[in-house]
Amino acid sequence: MNWRKLRTFLLTVLILCLIPATRYYQIDVPLLRFLKGSHVDPLSLHLSGEFVENNLGTEQNPDGSVTVRMIAQQYLFIPHCILVPAGAPVHLRVTSADAVHSLVFNDTDYAVKVLPGTISKAELQFPRAGDYKTVCREFCGAGHYAMRSELKVVPRDQFPALRPEERGICAAQ
Ligand code: CUA
Repeated sequence: MNWRKLRTFLLTVLILCLIPATRYYQIDVPLLRFLKGSHVDPLSLHLSGEFVENNLGTEQNPDGSVTVRMIAQQYLFIPHCILVPAGAPVHLRVTSADAVHSLVFNDTDYAVKVLPGTISKAELQFPRAGDYKTVCREFCGAGHYAMRSELKVVPRDQFPALRPEERGICAAQ
C-alpha cells in the first residue's frame, strides 16, 4: 500500500466534503430559490422592482389577506413598524440588502431566514391583536443586537383601509 497516495486521497475527499458543507451553511438553499425565480438584485432594491420604498409595508388584497414586503439590512428592518389585521393570512415577502439575517417575531413560532439576492416567502397568521417585537436572530455584524422592529396586530374590524403612502407606518389607524 502506498501511504502517500492514500494520504493524498483522504485529504482530497475531506476537502471535497468541506466545500459543499461550508457553502450550505453560509447560503442556505439558494439554488432552489434561484430555480424558482425568486432572484432579486440586492444592490438596486431601492431603485426598481418590488422592493422600492413606496411598495414596502402592508398591502391589502381583495380576498382579505395582506401582503407584507420588507427589507432586512444592517441593522434595521424597513419599514420599522408593520401593521396587520388579526386572523388574516399574511403573505410575507422579505429580502436582504446585505448580509444574512433572520426575522423572528417574538412570542410566535415564526422565523424567516433572509438572504441577499433572494426573496424569502412565508405564510403567517396572527390570531390575536397585540404588539410583537421583531428581532434579528442571525448574527449579522456589530449592530446585530440592536436590529429590532415592531409588528402591530389590530382587530380585523378595526384595520384601516391603507392608502399606498400609509403601508409602511403603524400610525395610519
Ligand atoms: Cu440582522 Cu442580525
